[in-house]
Amino acid sequence: MLRSCCVYGAGVLCVLLLIAGIAMALTQVFQKLINNTIKEQVVLENGTEAFSVFQNPPPPVYMQFYFFNLTNPAEVLDGDKPFVLQIGPYTYRSYRPKEEVKFLDNGTRVEAVNPKTYVFEPNMSRGSEDDIVRTVNIPAVTVMEKAKGRWFESFVSALMKSNNIGVFGTFRVGDLLWGYEDPLLKLIKKLITMDDHFGLFYKKNGTDDGDYIFFTGKQNYQDFARIDKWNGQSTLNWWSTEGCNRINGTDGASFHPVITKTEKLYIFSSDLCRSIYAQYESDVSVRGVPGFRFVPPSEVFANLTINPDNAGFCVPAGNCLGSGLLNVSVCQEGAPIIMSSPHFYQADDRFVQDVFGMNPNKEEHETVIDVNPFSIISLLKASSHTIKIIFSFLFCSQTGKIRMLVFPVMYLNESVVIDEESSKKLYAVVTEANVIVNIPFIVISVGILLGVIFIVFMCRQQMPPSTEAERQPLLSS
Ligand SMILES: *[C@@H]1O[C@H](CO)[C@@H](O)[C@H](O)[C@H]1NC(C)=O
Ligand SMILES: *[C@@H]1O[C@H](CO)[C@@H](O)[C@H](O)[C@H]1NC(C)=O
Ligand SMILES: *[C@@H]1O[C@H](CO)[C@@H](O)[C@H](O)[C@H]1NC(C)=O
Ligand SMILES: *[C@@H]1O[C@H](CO)[C@@H](O)[C@H](O)[C@H]1NC(C)=O
Ligand SMILES: *[C@@H]1O[C@H](CO)[C@@H](O)[C@H](O)[C@H]1NC(C)=O
Ligand SMILES: *[C@@H]1O[C@H](CO)[C@@H](O)[C@H](O)[C@H]1NC(C)=O
Ligand SMILES: *[C@@H]1O[C@H](CO)[C@@H](O)[C@H](O)[C@H]1NC(C)=O
Ligand SMILES: *[C@@H]1O[C@H](CO)[C@@H](O)[C@H](O)[C@H]1NC(C)=O
Repeated sequence: MLRSCCVYGAGVLCVLLLIAGIAMALTQVFQKLINNTIKEQVVLENGTEAFSVFQNPPPPVYMQFYFFNLTNPAEVLDGDKPFVLQIGPYTYRSYRPKEEVKFLDNGTRVEAVNPKTYVFEPNMSRGSEDDIVRTVNIPAVTVMEKAKGRWFESFVSALMKSNNIGVFGTFRVGDLLWGYEDPLLKLIKKLITMDDHFGLFYKKNGTDDGDYIFFTGKQNYQDFARIDKWNGQSTLNWWSTEGCNRINGTDGASFHPVITKTEKLYIFSSDLCRSIYAQYESDVSVRGVPGFRFVPPSEVFANLTINPDNAGFCVPAGNCLGSGLLNVSVCQEGAPIIMSSPHFYQADDRFVQDVFGMNPNKEEHETVIDVNPFSIISLLKASSHTIKIIFSFLFCSQTGKIRMLVFPVMYLNESVVIDEESSKKLYAVVTEANVIVNIPFIVISVGILLGVIFIVFMCRQQMPPSTEAERQPLLSS
């Protein structure tokens, strides 16, 4: 009597569990629960963990610079192909705290500046800041470009000749990055309004790039850490920021609370005067934390036939450089700078052929952004975020001898890899989320198990009472 009661109980429970499990699976109640938890946690408020991470992002950011050392300057001036050797990396750790933090509008927005300091990391570098690199004399080429067709053009070339300044020069790596007084610029700074110092990152150490206003996410969680204004400008029409790249709105991560594979991640870049985007490529694991790898599709740099959006880089209008190359001269104060992937990766093959020493390959020269779909929960970036840029010059000869070529000067990658402590936290969050999302399926499985037990017992009860089968317990072994 008791036994059959148990058996029927199991049957009823089975049906209930199946209904409940299926209902929970269909209504996605646990997914919604997780999303709600995320919504609660993604708000910048004094005292929350999200806020302290916002103020001092824990993962270290490294900038690695590579230069191309020219070995045959005289031959190039005679019309030969340049032969370059890559040197580096020269690695800097970049510190990016948010400072002068002020909450606005009852805590719905927060104002801050984001100064960056760069500290050389000898242990992660090959070579020192005192290394010498022979490359294009960027100030000289810029001055030549600016003087072209103007009354002082011949004066500039006479000045260069008498001071022994050529198209190529040798420079200390530290100077080329952080600035030095340029003799030519010093001589003619009154003629063309230009600073007499030059450096690829001149005046960038310890300075901030202006005033940011972020949404705190209090009003709408989807706006969490999104940039509302930069230097008073609305960022919906974002057109330029300082040399750093960032993904749509937040610093290093998409503002969506949970990143999906179908999403496009936008990366802002002032060097390009616009944002480029990356798309899902594959699943990856960063320090044991699962993530999605996003890469910019080749069409981002493609020629006009393939990507009409690149028309803005064909300057003067109609003057396009070919796939993989973007003329960013206007964004660089008129310096003849062209941007491409390192080693002309994904660019037209003729650029690779024009310079000995180019070795483009996917593994080393592709930009990748690895994100964890939940990384926004606790603002933990699981990204090995690698932006690589090449500075190039296209110049033709005054003597008619130099070939038109795009000469690679340097590239850099900026990488953020989640730190050990954050990765442990994120791992716990991901595991917990996975368990919670699977609760309906666990319930359904228990229901099915009970159903099996119920059916087995029912079959046994249907059997004639005095057969062998009854004495052989089905489940007790
Ligand atoms: C956060 O709270 C602390 C202590 O109450 C206070 O000193 C600090 O100024 C607050 N920060 C902001 C940005 O309001
Ligand atoms: C801030 O909150 C107060 C009181 O709730 C309200 O009167 C005021 O309008 C709010 N200000 C803004 C800018 O939202
Ligand atoms: C940047 O500034 C910091 C602090 O002022 C200093 O320690 C560091 O050496 C500087 N880095 C460079 C590359 O000059
Ligand atoms: C780059 O080339 C120059 C000139 O050949 C040489 O003096 C210098 O040592 C090279 N730099 C490095 C880091 O190899
Ligand atoms: C993200 O960037 C893209 C392209 O710049 C823009 O269309 C989109 O509106 C941006 N999203 C937000 C919320 O700013
Ligand atoms: C653009 O690139 C494609 C593929 O590389 C090529 O077939 C096409 O001719 C190019 N168009 C122009 C205008 O260069
Ligand atoms: C790049 O653009 C500038 C103007 O923005 C133009 O003067 C220059 O000739 C262009 N460079 C090339 C190689 O087309
Ligand atoms: C930076 O780029 C270089 C060359 O492309 C690569 O070898 C290196 O691993 C990258 N660094 C990081 C931290 O991704």
